[in-house]
Amino acid sequence: TYVVTEACIKCKYQDCVEVCPVDCFYEGENTLVIHPDECIDCGVCEPECPAEAILPDTEPEAEQWLEMNREYAEKWPVITRKGEQPADADDWKDVPNKFQDHFS
Ligand code: SF4
Ligand code: F3S
Repeated sequence: TYVVTEACIKCKYQDCVEVCPVDCFYEGENTLVIHPDECIDCGVCEPECPAEAILPDTEPEAEQWLEMNREYAEKWPVITRKGEQPADADDWKDVPNKFQDHFS
């Protein structure tokens, strides 16, 4: 499966949503997650993300986000179309360690 990492937080560009063939993205206030059981591993979302937030879970830095993606994909509503991105999305693009203070 592919996972959304903390690089998405407060960027939430949503370009990923537009290309996913199985609509397995789920939307929180500040970030999206992928449902690991629904992702078919096609990989088309990975290069679409301007924040480089999407990685296959085989990547060492992605593994830690897998359970978070699963947990919130069960709680949040599905998102099938790109909405408005945050006005300050670009300001958050290269900010590290966003999960602790900005996840919601
Ligand atoms: Fe959707 Fe494919 Fe990305 Fe999985 S890898 S989330 S199926 S676009
Ligand atoms: Fe997030 Fe990137 Fe999608 S910033 S909403 S994973 S395009």
